[in-house]
Amino acid sequence: MIDIEQKYGIIGKSDAIKEVISSIEQVAPTNISILIVGESGTGKELVARAIHLLSNRKNKAYIVVNCGAIPSGTIESELFGHKKGSFTGAVEDRKGFFEAADGGTIFLDEIGELPLETQVKLLRVLESGEIIRVGESIPRHVDVRLLAATNRDLKEQVLKGEFRKDLYYRIKTITIHIPPLRERREDIPMLAEYFMIEYADRNNLPYKPISPAAMKILESLNWQGNIRELRNFIQSVFILEKSKIIQPETVREYLQKNVGYLDSDHFDTRFPVRMDKDIDKMERELILQQLLLLRQDMEEIKTMLKQNYYMLEKGQLSLTEIPQRANDIENSAIFSKEILPVEDKSISEMEKELIEKTLEKYQGSKRKTAQALKISERTLYRKLKEYGIQR
Ligand SMILES: Nc1ncnc2c1ncn2[C@@H]1O[C@H](COP(=O)(O)OP(=O)(O)OP(=O)(O)O)[C@@H](O)[C@H]1O
Ligand SMILES: [Mg+2]
Repeated sequence: MIDIEQKYGIIGKSDAIKEVISSIEQVAPTNISILIVGESGTGKELVARAIHLLSNRKNKAYIVVNCGAIPSGTIESELFGHKKGSFTGAVEDRKGFFEAADGGTIFLDEIGELPLETQVKLLRVLESGEIIRVGESIPRHVDVRLLAATNRDLKEQVLKGEFRKDLYYRIKTITIHIPPLRERREDIPMLAEYFMIEYADRNNLPYKPISPAAMKILESLNWQGNIRELRNFIQSVFILEKSKIIQPETVREYLQKNVGYLDSDHFDTRFPVRMDKDIDKMERELILQQLLLLRQDMEEIKTMLKQNYYMLEKGQLSLTEIPQRANDIENSAIFSKEILPVEDKSISEMEKELIEKTLEKYQGSKRKTAQALKISERTLYRKLKEYGIQR
């Protein structure tokens, strides 16, 4: 047990974490697929790595795949590989992650994000132990142990038709559930001290112990972002603290500046606003809450734009499809118009920038630019005029 803590950095003394550690020890030496579930920031990646390192595959490959970060159009070729020429951009034969993990372990993080078509193929691989590269028909044998993680409720996804039932049953046989930090508050002091020491060591600074009164506050918080949030919190407070010991005032000061932490068990929203304050304070918090939500929306939009851009570059999306995608985005839940007024301009600006960048890439060649963007040269000329791009 102590060995696991020291070697793999899984800290905690609660019964819940002890149970997680004993499950790791039990399942690690087998070849069985494991599903790791828990809210964001609870340590799923840490647990997966510990399982691999404690298995007899520890000297073989450990491949981590974040299923949520790979565009759905390329995920199959990323996982199973492809044959040269099987799609635009497949300029040579390529091994996928499964082949790369042969003999070792593959960790499919955020497995709930896999597109349904890919889920079918994954199930086939798990049942047969064989993969087929995109564009090929010969199966190749692979010996890979699967670890998967999710912070979503897969059962609910199955009910909604977003996750295949057969795959769900195949992978859930052994599930390690990591409880959220607020359900194992006794781990907070140990973790907080650990992160304090870690931060001091890493930055060659003298370690600052946490005063009991400050620790009491930490123990009372809800930690929606779990251990990741605690870790970031400790780093910020370390920097903010002027004295040698972390004082409760410093913790409070930080909490006041970061409304996200001002929570209580009575409110289940992401950025709870307490209702027992004076009107002015509540109003200020509500505004800050909106700003935080806005910032989150912006992050999501940036990710979507990047994905579109990536798909355009890979030829999986053509410029003429952009208005439709833009509509989809505009109609999607994250674009709540009450909070975020959207001007058409932003989308056209995006298109303009893309055209400019592509022109630059092809040294001003309109033919090549039009080809790359999958639009006719005539449309390109029209757009150049429309956006006042001079080339
Ligand atoms: N028990 C623990 N002891 C020490 N550090 C931990 C523990 N659990 C998590 N951490 C740390 O907290 C951070 C978040 O953990 P991790 O990345 O594994 O979370 P996750 O469950 O994969 O979250 P997400 O769903 O957001 O990807 C990491 O820095 C990790 O090292
Ligand atoms: Mg993770």
